[in-house]
Amino acid sequence: MPTTLDKTRQTLADLGVTRPEQVYQLFSELRSVFEAEVFSAAETQDGGKLLNIDDKWISGSRPILTEAWENWVDQSPTALQAPAKSVLSHLNRRFKLTLEVVRPLERLNALNPAAIAELFERVKEIFDRDIVLDSTLISLGVTRVSWVGRKNGLITWITERWLKPAKPELKPLVGQALNELKAHVEGALEARRMAIEAASDQGALAREREDLSLPGVMRPLGSRHPLRQTFEDIERIFLSLGYTVVAGPEIETPYYNFEALNIPEHHPARDNMDTFYLAAPPGAGQRLLRTHTSPMQIRTMEKQAPPVRIIVPGKVYRRDNPDATHNFMFHQIEGLAVDSDITFCDFKGTVEYFVREFLGPKVKTRLRPSYFPFTEPSVEVDATCVFCGGKGCGVCKQSGWIELFGAGMVDPAVYGFVNYDAKRLSGFAFGLGVDRLTQLKYNTNDIQLYFQNDVRFLRQFA
Ligand code: DAH
Repeated sequence: MPTTLDKTRQTLADLGVTRPEQVYQLFSELRSVFEAEVFSAAETQDGGKLLNIDDKWISGSRPILTEAWENWVDQSPTALQAPAKSVLSHLNRRFKLTLEVVRPLERLNALNPAAIAELFERVKEIFDRDIVLDSTLISLGVTRVSWVGRKNGLITWITERWLKPAKPELKPLVGQALNELKAHVEGALEARRMAIEAASDQGALAREREDLSLPGVMRPLGSRHPLRQTFEDIERIFLSLGYTVVAGPEIETPYYNFEALNIPEHHPARDNMDTFYLAAPPGAGQRLLRTHTSPMQIRTMEKQAPPVRIIVPGKVYRRDNPDATHNFMFHQIEGLAVDSDITFCDFKGTVEYFVREFLGPKVKTRLRPSYFPFTEPSVEVDATCVFCGGKGCGVCKQSGWIELFGAGMVDPAVYGFVNYDAKRLSGFAFGLGVDRLTQLKYNTNDIQLYFQNDVRFLRQFA
């Protein structure tokens, strides 16, 4: 670490000084070193030592200030030359003053009011110049100690060396000038402190201000899966007709999945080639993964007296190998309406309403005879092809019609399983294939796309 005096022998570039505030910092370091020398000499009242200090720093053949001038001003980049110049010329005046405050007034030839006033005026000016160099609270603190410090502040020295030994006729004058100086110095120090604090507050505010024009952190929104969207579309349509949404178990008993739906023992759907049966402990009843949502027809009617109007969205399972139109798991929405006065017209009207709501007003429906064990009569609901408008295209295999879902009037045999009065009640049921309807709606040709979770595919439905 170079001492402060060493620093006067180096250029600002060598010292790493690039900003004016750093030059002012050098100023206060140098001032402290100089003052320490002066005050220890002044303590001993040794006039010779003071002269030596004067020579060494200010007026000798090669004083420190001259050396500093050569290194700090002459060799500096233009941007630093002005601050270095003003600091050094101020140091010159400031050092002279320090040497004066330790000497009595007679030695300064200030023995009349005018000379005294002039002297104090000069002190004030120098103080004013000191203080403008402070731009931080730390350097202002150094200046404060240098001026009003109890032990070696200039004010203390002025009190000791100018006021106390002053001739009685000059004392009131010196006292008054000193009080004014003190008040000025205290006031200015305080004002400067507040200015520096305000500036640093503003600086902090400016630094910490939010830049609202910066782009925010992108949090990509997910989207609803297309199957989920179809579920919700369908649910909305039936909710608007007064239906209730219910859910049921995916693990079922053969009774609910088959028997109670009038699907007899020998029916091919019950074959374990088609249905997932669960391994059950010996003695426990057989369990299977439901192959359709229809079991909830039974479970609902068992629990609830008519009228019934429900839809049952959910997953179903079959032993199919995955391909473009099959999967071992897919989705259905079961529908069931039972009441004392439901007719085939209600059934047809409901189906047509649903298809128009789901596929659009231009689509026409037709009912084609079909067979399901739990409905009689049973139908397949077809719609005019959404892709060609019924003219015939590749999707509808030139027929103009597309098969949508199976439905029918509830077979009276089913009421027998749930203790409903088949003579008094009637109703209809339908089973919507959600994956199939989604494929139709979005014209995709591979059901597997819905199960692969490839966001490049899914994001198209966002
Ligand atoms: N459960 C049948 C299946 O999965 C679909 C079905 C057809 C349900 C007609 C019904 C219906 O409610 O009436 O193939």
